[in-house]
Amino acid sequence: MERSLSMELVRVTEAAALASARWMGRGKKDEADDAATTAMRDVFDTIPMKGTVVIGEGEMDEAPMLYIGEKLGNGYGPRVDVAVDPLEGTSIVASGGWNALAVIAVADHGNLLHAPDMYMDKIAVGPEAVGQIDINAPLIDNIKAVARAKNKDIEDVVVTILNRTKHEKIVAELRDLRVRIKLINDGDVAGAINTAFDHTGVDLLLGQGGAPEGVLAAVALKCLGGELQGKLVPYNDEEMKRCVKMGLDVNKVLMMDDLVAGDDAIFAATGVTDGELLKGVQFKGSIGTTQSLVLRAKSGTARFIDGRHSLNKKPNLVFK
Ligand code: FBP
Repeated sequence: MERSLSMELVRVTEAAALASARWMGRGKKDEADDAATTAMRDVFDTIPMKGTVVIGEGEMDEAPMLYIGEKLGNGYGPRVDVAVDPLEGTSIVASGGWNALAVIAVADHGNLLHAPDMYMDKIAVGPEAVGQIDINAPLIDNIKAVARAKNKDIEDVVVTILNRTKHEKIVAELRDLRVRIKLINDGDVAGAINTAFDHTGVDLLLGQGGAPEGVLAAVALKCLGGELQGKLVPYNDEEMKRCVKMGLDVNKVLMMDDLVAGDDAIFAATGVTDGELLKGVQFKGSIGTTQSLVLRAKSGTARFIDGRHSLNKKPNLVFK
C-alpha cells in the first residue's frame, strides 16, 4: 500500500465526522449514522485504490451504501480490504456523549478478518503489556500481569468496560480487586485504542462488544504495537450457523494475526464528540474543526491531524 493512502483516508473520516457532528444531542442516532455514511461514501471514490468493503454497514440488501462487498475507490491503485464504521457510537452522538468516532481501517486484500455482525469477548492492552494477557485466564491474572508490565500497583490499574448488565460479574470482581474502572456507555473502539496512549490513563479494555469493532480496534493496536484478543460469541443458532458457514471457530481465541494479518495496515479515525484521545468536531460560522488520528502498521507512525474546514466550500457536509 502507498503510504500516501493514509492521508487520503483521513479525508474520509473527517467528512464523516463533520457531517454527523451536526446531529450531536438531537436524539436521532440513525440520522447521525446516515449523515456519516453518506459523507464517507462520497469521499471514497476520489481515492486511488481498488477497495472492497469487508466490514461495513451490513449486507447489500440491508444497507444502501458501504455494504459488505461494495467496491470503493477510483479503481486505480492497490487492491485492499476496507473496514468502515462511519459512526462508532451512534447513541453517543444522539446524546452528546463522550468518544464517538468516524473510523476506517484498510489492509492488503485478504488480510482483515471478515467479522460477522455479532458479539465478541475482548481484552486489549497497549504496547507495554503485549504478550502478558490471556483472554482465557482468570481476571485476576490479567490484572496482575498488566500491573506488573506497567509497573503499577493493582489499585492504580484503570480498566475500561462497557456499562452492560452482562458485565456485572466482571465489574464486581474488579471492584473486589480495588481496580479503578471506567464504565462507558458505548464506544469500545476508543476504549481499546486508549490503552496505547499513556495520557488517557487507561490500561486495559475488557468485556463484550461488537465483533466488527474488535477488528477495527485490532488494526489500530497493530499499528500502535498493542494487542487485542477476541472470541466470537454467537447468541443464537442463526449466528452459530453464520460462523460455521464463514469457517470461523467460536472456541478459538482470535489473536492479532487472525484479526489483521500481514505487516501493513492503515487506520484512520476522526473525533465526532470529545474523548480522552481526540477532540470532537467544533463549528463556528463557516468553519468546522476536526482532530484525527492516522496510523500505519508498517512504519509504526502515529499522526494527530488537526483540520480546519471551510464549510461553505463543502456544502454536502452542511446540515442545518
Ligand atoms: P454503534 O455505534 O453501532 O451504536 O456501536 C456502539 C457500541 O458501543 C460499540 O462501541 C460496541 O462494540 C457495541 O456498540 C456494543 O454493543 P451493545 O450496545 O449491543 O452492547
